[in-house]
Amino acid sequence: MKKALITGITGQDGAYLADFLLKKGYRVFGTYRRLSTPNFWRLQYLNIFEQIELLPCDLIDSYSIIETLKTVRPDEIYNLAAQSFVGASFEQPLASGEVTGLGVTRMLEAIRLITPEARLYQASTSEMYGDNSFPFQDEQTVFCPSSPYAAAKLYAHHVVKIYRKGYGLFASNGILFNHESPLRGMEFVTRKITNAVAKIKHGLEPSLELGNIDSSRDWGYAPEYIEAMWLILQHEKPEDFVIATNTTHTVREFLDIAFRHAGLYWQTYVKTEERYQRPVDVSYLKGDFAKAREILGWEPKTEFKELVQIMVDKDLERWGDWLGGKHFPWDAWNYPNEKKILSRKLKYE
Ligand code: NAP
Ligand code: GDD
Repeated sequence: MKKALITGITGQDGAYLADFLLKKGYRVFGTYRRLSTPNFWRLQYLNIFEQIELLPCDLIDSYSIIETLKTVRPDEIYNLAAQSFVGASFEQPLASGEVTGLGVTRMLEAIRLITPEARLYQASTSEMYGDNSFPFQDEQTVFCPSSPYAAAKLYAHHVVKIYRKGYGLFASNGILFNHESPLRGMEFVTRKITNAVAKIKHGLEPSLELGNIDSSRDWGYAPEYIEAMWLILQHEKPEDFVIATNTTHTVREFLDIAFRHAGLYWQTYVKTEERYQRPVDVSYLKGDFAKAREILGWEPKTEFKELVQIMVDKDLERWGDWLGGKHFPWDAWNYPNEKKILSRKLKYE
């Protein structure tokens, strides 16, 4: 049985990827970091929590990465862990650099020393193109990062290429454009909107405050992007791929579809506030995934409007359930029994 190790398994992509790999017959190991209130709710939500083998590991702590690799000896490593919120990277630029940038070098060094035969997927990002002026972005487009997050990701992107070339590691970057779902973090604009639409519709909130609603993103559906990560590691050689939809939409368009879907007009409820603006923003992203289509046979299926509606429907349902006294998986009550946490002393061959 193949063993996959996912860092960032508690996040949106980590949870969907774990689900995908379990269905493919993998033994799935996931790392989590110490938090005062652990958040395994996504794994619980997908009903896979019991099937995941957990290990404590933080990308700022080399030894925890080394111990994890020694314990699991994975065939495939999906490095999804990051401080992934662009806004927070302006507030905590050093911490973001430590985790999102240097954390990847720590992972690569550990792989080089302990499991050099393992295949590494690194979660690169369209954010590296920054505030560019190209009509679309692909693997050849120059990078011009516009945030501490993007700069850290670009550093990681290059270090992956250096270890591939210098040490012969099978290490690939997936340059993924924005991808969303009902499991998206609440701080990202899509989920912030769909959650607010649901609360407004249920009379739980009066309005929504946003920042720059003119920026444009290439938004896809997260579960489909997970398959691309896996395909990148099944490819015969390590390479970098853009994963996108070849379309772009503004935050305004997202607002329009989301509110209309709930029978509301966004103009009545949405205010823009200076405090949600970033010091530098990326105004336009539109990917070209031609290489992934040609080499991996991957393409997106869910269109923008459908994506927005999936997210609104799910948040409407959740808040409806909540009002009816039903509590969907959340954080505190999911804290695992210590027996669930794998001992570092155990070996998995
Ligand atoms: P996410 O929901 O924010 O998940 C991030 C994960 O990283 C969480 O599991 C988090 O753990 C973990 N993490 C944070 N700091 C860590 C640390 N110091 N050590 C170990 N783990 C740490 O992000 P996502 O949307 O799933 O994205 C997955 C990856 O793809 C990220 O690297 C992101 O930057 C990248 N990416 C995302 C998109 C997108 O549109 N979603 C696009 C391109 C690239 P906690 O639960 O403990 O916080
Ligand atoms: N988060 C947020 N909150 N964004 C807002 C708001 C708001 O209130 N108002 C407007 N926006 C704008 C942001 O300024 C940005 O232009 C756009 O909405 C999207 O912001 P996010 O949803 O936070 O995503 P992101 O594009 O900055 O970053 C996401 O995608 C990247 C891939 O391009 C994250 O998932 C990154 O981790 C990922 O790398």
